[in-house]
Amino acid sequence: DFSTANALIERHARRVPDFPQPGVEFIDLTPVLADSEAFDCVIDALGGEWSGIDLVAGLDARGFLLGAAVAMHLNTGVLAIRKSGKLPPPVFSRTYQLEYGEATLEIPAEGVELAGRRVLVVDDVLATGGTVAAAVELLEEAGAEVAGISVVLEVPGLGGRDKLVGHNVRCLSAG
Ligand code: PRP
Ligand code: MG
Repeated sequence: DFSTANALIERHARRVPDFPQPGVEFIDLTPVLADSEAFDCVIDALGGEWSGIDLVAGLDARGFLLGAAVAMHLNTGVLAIRKSGKLPPPVFSRTYQLEYGEATLEIPAEGVELAGRRVLVVDDVLATGGTVAAAVELLEEAGAEVAGISVVLEVPGLGGRDKLVGHNVRCLSAG
């Protein structure tokens, strides 16, 4: 459940000072995913309490690990939302600001039926919210309904939630 997942994340996450910049503390979730109990519990919590999900979208790259596992858990298919240049045309494309730079996300504009489908967006971290917001905009452009957003960790104070007003957001841990 939620509180067990929260405790396991707290126990296994590795806090790295001064990465990727001096004065910034990086929270590395690698050991959380590498622990079988924590991984299982996190996947369960990310996928829990949503209803009527018919597709899970995982965000390039760290969200892939989570999205595919959540999709298996919910018995849905999975959609990889990719960084630019990886998918064959035609694509929907959206450029966004990262905490440290900028990036572009893409989804297929053909081959995957997205119109009217209820999609759960899954990623590891919500920081400024630029990444998840771009994913949400892409899915909506393709006609999908974003039923919810599940992330493992929210970094407070960066305004991530402000970019997702009106959406249901589930965060298992806050910095
Ligand atoms: C990281 C993280 C989130 C995003 C959060 O991804 O995995 O996807 O930043 O930041 P935001 O809320 O400010 O957008 P990143 O693009 O750095 O790299 P990745 O390919 O390793 O997931
Ligand atoms: Mg990422």
